[in-house]
Amino acid sequence: MKERGERIAMLTAYDFPTARLLDEAGVEILLVGDSLAMVVQGRATTLSVRLRDMIYHGEMVVRAAQRSMVVVDLPFPHGQLGVRETLRVSARIMKRTGCQAVKLEGGAEQAETIATLVAAGIPVIAHVGLRPQSVHALGGYKVQRNEQRIREDATAAQQAGAFCVLMECVPRDLAREITAMLRVPTIGIGAGPDCDGQVLVTHDMLGLTCGYVPKFVRPFANLAQQTQTAVKQFISQVRDQSFPSADESFN
Ligand code: KIV
Repeated sequence: MKERGERIAMLTAYDFPTARLLDEAGVEILLVGDSLAMVVQGRATTLSVRLRDMIYHGEMVVRAAQRSMVVVDLPFPHGQLGVRETLRVSARIMKRTGCQAVKLEGGAEQAETIATLVAAGIPVIAHVGLRPQSVHALGGYKVQRNEQRIREDATAAQQAGAFCVLMECVPRDLAREITAMLRVPTIGIGAGPDCDGQVLVTHDMLGLTCGYVPKFVRPFANLAQQTQTAVKQFISQVRDQSFPSADESFN
């Protein structure tokens, strides 16, 4: 798709019905992101999500996907515990979920790990720029302006064999430069319009996220409002006894 100049659409999915809808709508990649800690489990960061949570949600998404590629995030700290542990956990995720690839936060410092996974037959997306699992070390969810480091991370990830580089919260000019420099596709989130593809957290773009939503999210729908309206109608019709009707009952 990069060679043909076609943009890649990637969205997060954590359950069967959502994954089925996104797959049928035509997204290329379903990401079982560790963002599920925040948007599904109601946590403040992604750090608490467990390996067993990723496998539980990954299985559901893989079961729904007919044509999309399914990528599962390596949860903290399993992707940071060195080559052997990351290989062990990635293999477990792939065996248990049936996903086609894993995503790993980091670039240059993960080069050896990425190369080992790829040599073992595990396709890898490298996540550079803002790495949410390092939120405390980075001092918060901020735009990353260490351009040299981001360039080196992206280049090292490609050299190590990552098939895709995801860039989060990086200046658009830098994202454009890296996208032009790399042979493998880039997917951006808060990285401007010039990446080879875009990813968003589905709950954010559908208006389902409780609380803070970053500036780079476009609200494509307001499902929270639609859900509340429907639920209020249900409550009112239960109370005034107009639900269920004769047609909705058995004789
Ligand atoms: O976990 C996730 O959803 C992600 C996206 C922010 C790309 O990594």
